[in-house]
Amino acid sequence: TITAVIMAGGKGERFWPKSRTHLPKQFLNISGNKSMIQQTIARLENLIDISQIFIVTNELYAELIRAQIPHLPHDNIIIEPIGRNTAPCVGLASILIEEKFPHSTMVVLPSDHIIENEEGFIRILKTAVEVAQEDSHLVTLGIQPTYPETGYGYIESTKEINKVNDLDVHKVNKFVEKPNLETAEGYLSSGNYFWNSGIFIWKTAVIRKYIKELMPEMHDVLETMKAAFGTDQKRNVINSEFHKMPDQSIDYGIMEKVNNIYVIPCIFGWDDVGSWTALDRINDRDGNGNVIKGNILNIDTKRCIIESNGKLIATLGIEDLIIVDTEDVTLICTKDKAQEVKLLLKELRTQK
Ligand code: GDD
Ligand code: MG
Repeated sequence: TITAVIMAGGKGERFWPKSRTHLPKQFLNISGNKSMIQQTIARLENLIDISQIFIVTNELYAELIRAQIPHLPHDNIIIEPIGRNTAPCVGLASILIEEKFPHSTMVVLPSDHIIENEEGFIRILKTAVEVAQEDSHLVTLGIQPTYPETGYGYIESTKEINKVNDLDVHKVNKFVEKPNLETAEGYLSSGNYFWNSGIFIWKTAVIRKYIKELMPEMHDVLETMKAAFGTDQKRNVINSEFHKMPDQSIDYGIMEKVNNIYVIPCIFGWDDVGSWTALDRINDRDGNGNVIKGNILNIDTKRCIIESNGKLIATLGIEDLIIVDTEDVTLICTKDKAQEVKLLLKELRTQK
């Protein structure tokens, strides 16, 4: 069996003020007419039945998920009492899925990415599942890097390349999560690195084996939880034990430390829609390079991203700005600061 785990507990803070604590990025329509998580589900359903798709998230978002994905069985929403980053998210999902679907191969993926070519995506995913099943490998999907992004993981491929279903499957030499700029520039010019797309494929038994080996404290907590399965204490034990797991990502906790990774280069268009400037890549621009949405009047305005919430936004003589109007907040920031929108939120919280 193939199962899928969609990680949907992120806060999407770099998309503030449109993305809010009660309605983060994965539940918004950033492109197209469905929310990002709805698109993620629809894409997966070409390969995996909805009964085998699970979403891991915070209690805050359970209701939103039920509303946006009404055909998802309610039991398939896995609730974390608090966000502990992606390693505990994957760990908890793995034991709950093993209970229902023993020996499944699990596809782990983010809830908020854009993938252009769905057919290409499904073709690669099928092959990744085969590779993960046959040799107990950890498989990731790699993206050809185009600039030295420091917010991604980098995957160095070896010369060992196998063909599976006509696709290249590279043995990985090393996985480096979020290198600094200098290191990322070096990787980019060396040419044999991929970006980590954040999509992982492995058998539940295999990831559990690595968790036991590399994150033993987390393994112990998962075993305590498992001991309560089949009793009426299951939910209580999960809730009371969860915070004992380390606040760590799967990338730092596992991927950087194993030497059994294979990467399949992706031929589908991929974007992780990390911040407002992603709209430049995924949307059509007008003749002056602007991406505009809603009620906007602009003269002599170049390379701006402007989103109105109904009220007219009129601009004159500005360049390279992001302007996003919502009911209670208007963001105005330069494009080169798009990654730092989080700072405003931090400041707001200290003022409260
Ligand atoms: N359920 C749950 N709980 N989901 C979470 C949590 C959590 O505590 N933390 C993050 N997520 C979800 C996010 O919503 C997102 O869909 C996904 O997990 C990845 O988390 P991010 O916080 O967005 O990770 P990142 O962007 O810094 O880095 C990861 O993705 C990059 C590609 O987009 C890494 O895997 C990098 O190596 C990778 O390049
Ligand atoms: Mg991300």
